[in-house]
Amino acid sequence: MAVVPAAPVVLGVAMVLVVLAASAGAAGQLRMGFYAESCPGVERVVGDFVRQHVRRVPTVAAALLRLHFHDCFVRGCDASVLLNSTAGSVAEKDAPPNLTLRGFDLVDRVKALVEDACPGVVSCADVLALAARDAVVAIGGPSWRVATGRRDGTVSAMQEALDDIPKHTMTFPQLASLFASKGLGVRDLVWLSGAHTIGIAHCSSFADRLYGYPGGGVGAAGNDTADPALDATYAANLRRRKCRAAGGGYAEDGVVEMDPGSHLTFDLGYYRALLKRRGLLRSDAALLTDAAARADVEGVAAGPEEVFFQLFARSMARLAALQVKTGAEGEVRRNCAVVNGG
Ligand code: HEM
Ligand SMILES: *[C@@H]1O[C@H](CO)[C@@H](O)[C@H](O)[C@H]1NC(C)=O
Ligand SMILES: *[C@@H]1O[C@H](CO)[C@@H](O)[C@H](O)[C@H]1NC(C)=O
Ligand SMILES: *[C@@H]1O[C@H](CO)[C@@H](O)[C@H](O)[C@H]1NC(C)=O
Repeated sequence: MAVVPAAPVVLGVAMVLVVLAASAGAAGQLRMGFYAESCPGVERVVGDFVRQHVRRVPTVAAALLRLHFHDCFVRGCDASVLLNSTAGSVAEKDAPPNLTLRGFDLVDRVKALVEDACPGVVSCADVLALAARDAVVAIGGPSWRVATGRRDGTVSAMQEALDDIPKHTMTFPQLASLFASKGLGVRDLVWLSGAHTIGIAHCSSFADRLYGYPGGGVGAAGNDTADPALDATYAANLRRRKCRAAGGGYAEDGVVEMDPGSHLTFDLGYYRALLKRRGLLRSDAALLTDAAARADVEGVAAGPEEVFFQLFARSMARLAALQVKTGAEGEVRRNCAVVNGG
């Protein structure tokens, strides 16, 4: 039975719509093709640059994806991760584990190209969001829609990176609650961890699993008590080869592929390795300690790959919209490493 609403109800609905539209405008919102008029070529400029560089140096894809993740988890996706420290404050990029973020130079270069085309128009946060997506696509991973219109923040604080970036030593409940604090669910945690299907980790990021577990880590090198959740053969191999210094002993700066054999391919290798107890980080292995997360890992690992791609893409779109600044908030930084006039 069709109900014809009484006039006041219609009016009420109309008013709600007006209010919603107004608040969306005031808060500002990301939208597809935000620069369609102000800088129509920007998505092509970023895409061409990233594709070229990933083709030449495929490992930069992982670097760009991780930068975008670190950006979004601290103060939202506002390019705060790209700011240099200043005399007055130590920036996110200098917070340990700072040694391991890569790709700043690449973002600066693509931003310079964008500035040449449209000075002062496109934010660093948008450049990074687009570059991360294009990098994943360039190595054969999934694509996702990147709505634009982010504004850049003016603050970058080391302590906030220490508080908000997940640590490799975290347990499942700790990871889940950190993600929840960002409005992301445990499934986002499981699918986004799939990013570790590409890229590398330094031995210092998992030494705690190889030496003197559980307290262990770097200081316990020489003590071969390993994390029982890590495949023993794999652990021995890491100790003997990948994390061994030239002169013997432990090499903190040794580098290991997170998904050995296919670290340049966006595939199901990460989840399959995880199920063989060859996930590299404690935080990777932690996904198996929760029954529901474990079931999700098993489900996605079984394939087809397309399912992972869709789930990953959907979670990436959520990540890329975290606490964004829009409208008149923040600024459009001209140089991603320094605030305007700074
Ligand atoms: C769930 C919590 C997470 C933890 C604890 C974590 C931790 C880490 C650590 C310790 C490394 C190795 C760094 C090094 O030693 O060089 C790493 C690498 C990486 N992470 Fe994560 N990560 C997490 C989630 C994510 C997410 C959500 C993404 C992206 C969506 C991501 C993308 C990457 C990539 C691509 C690399 C490789 C970087 C490279 O090759 O330079 N990670 N992560
Ligand atoms: C930011 O810091 C990096 C590394 O210390 C340096 O190479 C770069 O020139 C700095 N950028 C600016 C604009 O100060
Ligand atoms: C990392 O941060 C520390 C301070 O926490 C700083 O002394 C060091 O120079 C930084 N390293 C890099 C490569 O930026
Ligand atoms: C190695 O480390 C473990 C865990 O910290 C400890 O229980 C064990 O006694 C250590 N072994 C040696 C030989 O130091």
